[in-house]
Amino acid sequence: MTQDELKQAVAREAVKYVVEDAVIGVGSGSTADFFIDELAKVKNRIAGAVASSEKTAARLKGYGIPVQNLNSVNELPVYIDGADEITEHLAMIKGGGGALTREKIVAAVARKFVCIADESKLVPVLGEFPLPVEVIPMARGYVARQMVALGGTPKLREGFTTDNGNIIIDVWGLKILNPVEIEARINNIAGVVTNGLFAQRGADVLLLGTKSGVRKIGK
Ligand code: A5P
Repeated sequence: MTQDELKQAVAREAVKYVVEDAVIGVGSGSTADFFIDELAKVKNRIAGAVASSEKTAARLKGYGIPVQNLNSVNELPVYIDGADEITEHLAMIKGGGGALTREKIVAAVARKFVCIADESKLVPVLGEFPLPVEVIPMARGYVARQMVALGGTPKLREGFTTDNGNIIIDVWGLKILNPVEIEARINNIAGVVTNGLFAQRGADVLLLGTKSGVRKIGK
C-alpha cells in the first residue's frame, strides 16, 4: 500500500466518527484533504463544518459543504485532523502546513479530537520533525534567540505567511521528552502566537494507517 492509500484508509474510517446533524471540525493537510473527500459523500448527514484553514474552507465549499464561523457554533462534538508526528500517548507535532494556530483553537473547542495519520507519523519521541512556531513578525529575532537557548536551531519558513498574517519559525533539533512542559514554555515567550505541540490538548483517538489495516489507539 502507498502512503496515500494509508491516508485514504484512515480518512474512510474517520467518517464513522461524524455525528449526525452536527457541525464537524475539519483540519488541514493532505490526510485531512482525503477526509474531506470522504465527508463529501455523507454531506447531507451533517449541519456543516468549521475549517482550520482557508485552504480547507475552500475545499469544503468546493463540495458544497457549508462552512461555519467558529463563533457561531456552540458545540463541536468532533474534530478530525492529521499530524506531522504523534506518540502512543497521543501528543503531537502539527503545523507542517502552517495552520497550527487555527487547528489548536478548533481542537480546544472540540469534545473529541480524532487524529488520522499513516504509520510513518508514529514516533517514540517528538522532535525529529521541526517544531513550527507561529510568531508575530516583529518578534522574529527575539523568538529565534529564545529557541536557541532552548537547544533548538530556528529557521524562518521563507516566503510563508499564515492565515493570520504571521510568520512561522521551524525549530530543528529539539528532543521533546516532556511535550506538555515545552508547549507551555514556548507559548509563554512574548511574540509567540502558538507552537505546534499539541500535548496539553492532545488527540483522544488515533486512527493509524498501517499495511495490515487501521490501528486504533485511544477512545
Ligand atoms: C497543517 O498545519 C498540519 O498540522 C497538518 O495537520 C499536518 O502537517 C499533517 O499534514 P499531512 O496530513 O499532509 O501529513
